[in-house]
Formats: sequence, structure tokens, C-alpha cells
Amino acid sequence: MKALVLSGGKGTRLRPITHTSAKQLVPVANKPILFYGLEAISRSGIKDVGIIVGETKNEIKAAVGNGSKFGIKVTYIEQEAPLGLAHAVKISRDFMKNDEFVMYLGDNLIRDGIKTFVDEFKKKKPNAQILLAKVPNPQQFGVAELKGDRVMRLVEKPKQPKSDLALVGVYMFDKNIFEAVNNIKPSWRNELEITDAIQYMVTKKFVVTPHIITGWWKDTGKLEDMLEANRIILDTLKSENKGTIKDSEIDEKVVIQKGAQINNSTVRGPVIIGENCKILNSYIGPFTSVYFNTIIENSEIEHSIVLENSKVSDVKRITDSLIGQNVEVLKSGKKPHAFRIMVGDSSRVEIV
Ligand code: G1P
Repeated sequence: MKALVLSGGKGTRLRPITHTSAKQLVPVANKPILFYGLEAISRSGIKDVGIIVGETKNEIKAAVGNGSKFGIKVTYIEQEAPLGLAHAVKISRDFMKNDEFVMYLGDNLIRDGIKTFVDEFKKKKPNAQILLAKVPNPQQFGVAELKGDRVMRLVEKPKQPKSDLALVGVYMFDKNIFEAVNNIKPSWRNELEITDAIQYMVTKKFVVTPHIITGWWKDTGKLEDMLEANRIILDTLKSENKGTIKDSEIDEKVVIQKGAQINNSTVRGPVIIGENCKILNSYIGPFTSVYFNTIIENSEIEHSIVLENSKVSDVKRITDSLIGQNVEVLKSGKKPHAFRIMVGDSSRVEIV
């Protein structure tokens, strides 16, 4: 059995962060989202993994390498343009041969992993197995209609959803999926939709079984979802200190990574402070992740993600924010008192 991980796409809903980096590499609790998926695949016993890459291929390759650090063997498959999830399956044919496989969307996070799901597929041997979760906003997903434990109909982002069961970004297929992806037409967004391919299998009377998950799952395409994922994962961390702490008050559930310095500050967990960060005269509040080489001084921040090589100085207070790499947020003291900002394309700044 193999795995196909999708790590192309443009990440339009996370711009401007994704103007300069792959959405699958944005860190949640200081670990790229994609790594959680690769770890889950490895834990399920699958070792042969194809990764679909697009424009950001160099970055993904640099981060994942040959997969040995996850205990897997990675083959990269290049997709010339983001033409849809079913298109990604189509171009993986040579790699898959006739094997069964799990397809995993690289920006999805499933807290409890995929082992149960993979084991069930191996045991029951349907032609396809889909993972579903109840959501409050089904219009934003592929939606399934069930009758007992059979899938009756699947619709991609329906305006009037017939159920609240969304397709989670993890699917399992046998070789019959290739017949399906070769027989569907592009959707209104000009993509070959995997939802349509699975619907093709349903129509052609292949066995498509649902598996409803009750544990926590997130498609991290948007800022609020990233912050929520960060909250959930941070909450599972245990305190650890590999840095230096001076004259500071450090709460429960605080992880301080190698070389980080905390001086004269208060840190209320759950929080993770990355390698070689400096936290000086500051307050770091719950549910905050600070990636590596970042400086936070004379500032207060909570419920936020700050990426690497950035600096926050003399700012009170930042909340619910995602701050990119190599960013400076500071108070200048210059007159007149005014906001002086240089903000990238597609950014959002809220001033109160
Ligand atoms: C894709 C699928 C959709 C699924 C979702 C899960 O949506 O097309 O059916 O529910 O992933 O993350 P997209 O992220 O491409 O809008």
C-alpha cells in the first residue's frame, strides 16, 4: 500500500504568507503542517509515499528530503499547474501502478492520525473509502449523502447542502480510481475534482464506504483555521526547557526550544518559543507559537503565530495574528503619531 500526499496548490486563502512560502510548510506549534501528515502516514505503516509538488517544489523538497527523517521513502511527482485533486491522482499512475493508496491533502490536520482508517480499508477492501466529519459550514467542502453505511451522492461545495457531512482531505482508493479520474470533466473552477471522481465510482456501482470521524480535524486553508489548529496542538504539548530563562515567570505548558532566551518576561502557556528566539521584557500569552530566530521585546502578544526571523518591538498588544517571516512590527516614536506601514499584497491589517 502506498500514499499520495498533495503539496502543490497556491494557498490563495493564506496570502500574503503564501506569496513567499508553501502553505503546507506554515508551522503549527512550530512544526510545518505537512510534517504532521507525513508522520501520520508513517505511523499507519505506509512507507512508500509520492508527494505531488507544484510551484513551491524546491521548498517542499528542501524541507522533506528523501523522507528518511519520517521513516518513509519519498518520490516527488510534479504537477505542471494546480488542475485539481483528481488531476494529481491521474499523474500519479506510474508511481502507483496497481497498488492501493491513501491520498492525503497536505494542509489537513487530523489529530488522531489515520491508522484506524487505513486498517479498516485493508480489512473491508472496498474500492474507495472516504473520511467524513460533521461541520457547521458544509457549503465550503465536498459534501456526502449517506443511506445507512453507503455513500449515495457526493457534491463539491454545494450551495444547498443535503447533509452536514464534509469530505475530510484523506481518501483511500484501489486502482479503479484511475478509470474514474479519466472519465470526468473539469468543474466550474476548471479543476478535475476528486469529489466528482468518487461520484463516478458510486454511479458505476463500485463499493464506496464512509468512515465518519469524531476526533478533531482541520483544513488549515485560512487564518482562523491555522490559529485553531495551533491552539489544539499547543494544548497537547508538555513543558520543556532547552533555552535560558532569567528573571521571568513561566507557566505550565511552555516549550522553550534550543538556544532561546527569555529575560524579564511572563509566559503563560500553552506556548512554544522556537530555537534562538529572544523574548525580552515581554508578555507572551496563551496559544502563541514563535518560530525560530525571532525577537519579541517590550511587547505583549497572545493567540498568535509568529514566523521566523521577525521582530516585534514596543507593541502592546497583538492578538489573533499571523506574522510572516522577516517581518518587523515596531513602535517608532516618530512624530506625528501615525501608523507608518509597508504591508505586502493581499494583507489584512486591523487597527483599533
Ligand atoms: C478540497 C476538496 C473538498 C474537501 C476539502 C477538505 O477542497 O475539494 O471536497 O472537503 O478539500 O479539506 P479545497 O481545499 O480544494 O477547496
